[in-house]
Amino acid sequence: MSRIRVISLRRRRPVCHNAVVRRRTSVLIRPCEPDDVPQIASIYGHAVLTGTASFELEAPGAAEMGRRRAALLEGGYPYLVAERDGRVAGYAYAGPYRARPAYRSTVENSVYVAPARQGQGIGRELLGALLLSASVRGFRQMIAVIGDSGNLSSIRLHKAAGFTHVGVLRSVGWKHGRWLDTVLMQRPLGPGAEIPSDLAPAA
Ligand SMILES: CC(C)(COP(=O)(O)OP(=O)(O)OC[C@H]1O[C@@H](n2cnc3c(N)ncnc32)[C@H](O)[C@@H]1OP(=O)(O)O)[C@@H](O)C(=O)NCCC(=O)NCCS
Repeated sequence: MSRIRVISLRRRRPVCHNAVVRRRTSVLIRPCEPDDVPQIASIYGHAVLTGTASFELEAPGAAEMGRRRAALLEGGYPYLVAERDGRVAGYAYAGPYRARPAYRSTVENSVYVAPARQGQGIGRELLGALLLSASVRGFRQMIAVIGDSGNLSSIRLHKAAGFTHVGVLRSVGWKHGRWLDTVLMQRPLGPGAEIPSDLAPAA
């Protein structure tokens, strides 16, 4: 995939009461490289240990994140990072929604932004680039499986990117001493369901 340079992200910075100003900043959206993996493991590890977006309970290390990345790339799925000031500010990838072959045109996405970089438009840029990247690879539906009904930043991010709310699985997770819902959102990619799938089952 070619590199996408985003030169004007809207950055929110409160100035007084509810007013915000927009500040120009820049981020590079590019394919994930092996050297990015330790920073990705750090971003994801923080989210695993402190948040509800992931239903994992223990933070996987860089070696495990590297294995997961390799499996996704081997399967033909997109894996992107957002680079800012020479550091990984966030990452996004698509992977199989479910393993059985009739699901092969459908992907599930993941988007994570480093805590210090959240609310600066990076998630939006990553998700937009991921949608494009998944579309050109022939995938037709993207599913967001969002950890917890209270994850408003993720729900709003996906809504802003054209996902529609398709359901809630109530109290299917237990983490941080409470029950967690899973919110399902979906967006067609490219021609969606208007024409037949042209992805062959994996050999
Ligand atoms: C969810 C997440 C990826 C969003 O990335 P981000 O860079 O912070 O989001 P952006 O700044 O691009 O904002 C995109 C939209 O999300 C919404 N949003 C972002 N932060 C928000 C917040 N704190 N509260 C409510 N909505 C928020 C807004 O609707 C925003 O659109 P707008 O700027 O037009 O209002 C990021 O907050 C994150 O990594 N969270 C922890 C992990 C997670 O929940 N990942 C999603 C897994 S499915």
